[in-house]
Amino acid sequence: MQQIIITLDGYSSCGKSTLAKRLASYFGYKFIDSGAMYRAITLYFLRNVVDWNNSEEVVEALKNIDIEFQYNPEFKQSEIFLNGENVEYVIRDLVVAEKVSEVAAVKEVREFAVALQQSYGLEKGIVMDGRDIGSTVFPDAEVKFFLEADLAVRVQRRFKELYEKNPHVTLEEVSSNLAHRDYIDSNREISPLRKPEGAIILDNTNYTKDEFFKIAVDKVKEVAAKL
Ligand code: DC
Repeated sequence: MQQIIITLDGYSSCGKSTLAKRLASYFGYKFIDSGAMYRAITLYFLRNVVDWNNSEEVVEALKNIDIEFQYNPEFKQSEIFLNGENVEYVIRDLVVAEKVSEVAAVKEVREFAVALQQSYGLEKGIVMDGRDIGSTVFPDAEVKFFLEADLAVRVQRRFKELYEKNPHVTLEEVSSNLAHRDYIDSNREISPLRKPEGAIILDNTNYTKDEFFKIAVDKVKEVAAKL
């Protein structure tokens, strides 16, 4: 199969990253979690007390941010590094999740992240998931997926993930955080979450991970066969 770009967009906790990772490993492609980039920037802003409503402060802070993805053979996954530090796990904390949508709505932050994302795609052979990947970052991607799932299913999925790390987290907290992020992600001025033109819609409410993966692989093969 020729090297292509595969994008996955959708609301939080629809199973995008899980599917994107499996697709990347199946096709031998790079996987880039674009949400992790916004989370890493948010972590930097929180740690360094950067006011993201002040564009001068943001521009200065971005100059000091270096983001890289490195493949970890032990866990067979690509992990994000912020200025040389592996932050793959700390960026998943609720403290970061509570602020990331605000940070991701800042124009300068988006320009910074989108430029990096586009540079990763220059050689194709990449799977990237996020909110605006098929619409803004790679509008000409060969395969664009848009994932959906019922809110209740997404809340359960996210709760399970967070609970394993922090048993004090409540279903209410997770539910309100998801609803809040969905709202900001869909209503921000720049690159709001939208179904990209020509996207293949996949609803992940009722499938097992394996069933869902097979549907996506078949779709990719179907599109690639016609190229
Ligand atoms: O996929 P995630 O939950 O890790 O994303 C974290 C936040 O980053 C999410 O609230 C929306 C934002 N985001 C974005 O604005 N654009 C992207 N391409 C990816 C994520």
